[in-house]
Amino acid sequence: MRMLVPVAVTLGIVLLSGYSGNRALAQNTPEPPPWAYPMTPARPPGAPPAAVHDPDALHTVPDSDLRLTMAQIRSPFDIADWHPDGHPAMPEVVSHGRRPELRACGYCHYPNGKGRPENAGIAGLPAAYIEQQMADFKSGARKSSEPRMVPPNLMVDVAKAATDEEVRIAAEYFAALPWTPWITVIEATSVPRTTVMGGMIVPLEGPDAGEEPLGQRIIEVPMDTERAEVLRDDAASFVAYVPVGSIDKGEALVTTGGGKTISCSVCHGANLEGAGSIPPLAGRSPSYTVRQLFDIQQGNRAGFGAEQMKPVVAALTLEDMINIAAYTGSRVPATTSTQ
Ligand code: HEC
Ligand code: HEC
Repeated sequence: MRMLVPVAVTLGIVLLSGYSGNRALAQNTPEPPPWAYPMTPARPPGAPPAAVHDPDALHTVPDSDLRLTMAQIRSPFDIADWHPDGHPAMPEVVSHGRRPELRACGYCHYPNGKGRPENAGIAGLPAAYIEQQMADFKSGARKSSEPRMVPPNLMVDVAKAATDEEVRIAAEYFAALPWTPWITVIEATSVPRTTVMGGMIVPLEGPDAGEEPLGQRIIEVPMDTERAEVLRDDAASFVAYVPVGSIDKGEALVTTGGGKTISCSVCHGANLEGAGSIPPLAGRSPSYTVRQLFDIQQGNRAGFGAEQMKPVVAALTLEDMINIAAYTGSRVPATTSTQ
């Protein structure tokens, strides 16, 4: 028996050193869930080249008079404003940004502030909250748990490039926009097979299309990939598939704390629509919500306000976060019922 001890110890060391590149084991922290932190996959060797768009072809989207080339649609310094009637006049920082380093806010968050799952819906957030988040991104207090995910890094670049005055103007613009229903939350057991395109999770097309079990994940995809991802149409919305039963389980945690957390409405308002400078949760992207709960729990989002969230997230499992986000995402912002 004694002879075996050194062997076992050696094996243990070999196993551990074999895993030393694995952040999860090395630091005893969970891996960021890939469906909440999408990353565009490297093109497998031998894969056909990505679709090339005819540079002169003109594109449009439903209910728009615009006809734009792909270069116009993809310019982060002069954004495609497909539906100018859908929002007030944009200030420069939202529509054009400032070359060379300040991309326009509206490129990623859209002119109407609805945003996409890989960034954030920022319409109707309190202006003071927006300004604080910009300061946190800039100072490094708010960063992603997945440093390889591109969009949050670009957001940090934006926060570093923007002047206080630009931040103030943008915050005022987005805070004044209404937050209306945008993402449809559906409980499901099986979901489309997906890939990542332009930072966004999208259903696979062609021979790879099909369904797979959802499991303990949230799969949030555009209802129309061409309109949402390719044409950046700010009227093309999303569907978030969540596990069966998750909305009820989330409701229990959100409303009572379930012995694991603190009732959210104490701070986020009775209908989870925000209170004072605390942001709303109702109807917002469930995959974004999980990403934030995870970032706060892991200490990667640790600005001034995030301190208050620490006891809220401390005991949550990833499954709890999924349930909570399924519930908060499924809440219809009540302000819309009076419109
Ligand atoms: C290149 C894309 C991009 C641009 C341009 C951009 N953002 Fe963002 N923004 C993001 C991403 C991605 C996130 C989410 C980061 C995360 O998941 O933590 C984000 C998050 C935010 C948040 C946090 C939302 C919340 O609920 O906490 C605010 C506020 C924000 N952006 C404001 C702005 C403003 C103001 C501008 C323009 C000055 C801007 N953004 C430009 C990508 C962008
Ligand atoms: C003690 C007050 C308090 C309670 C209770 C609380 N929150 Fe928060 N929450 C905050 C504050 C303050 C922020 C802003 C954090 C920041 O500035 O970075 C926040 C931010 C968040 C965010 C990030 C929102 C965004 O736009 O990025 C999420 C998600 C969130 N809370 C979820 C919850 C949930 C779910 C619960 C209940 C289970 C909850 N919170 C309970 C105070 C609270």
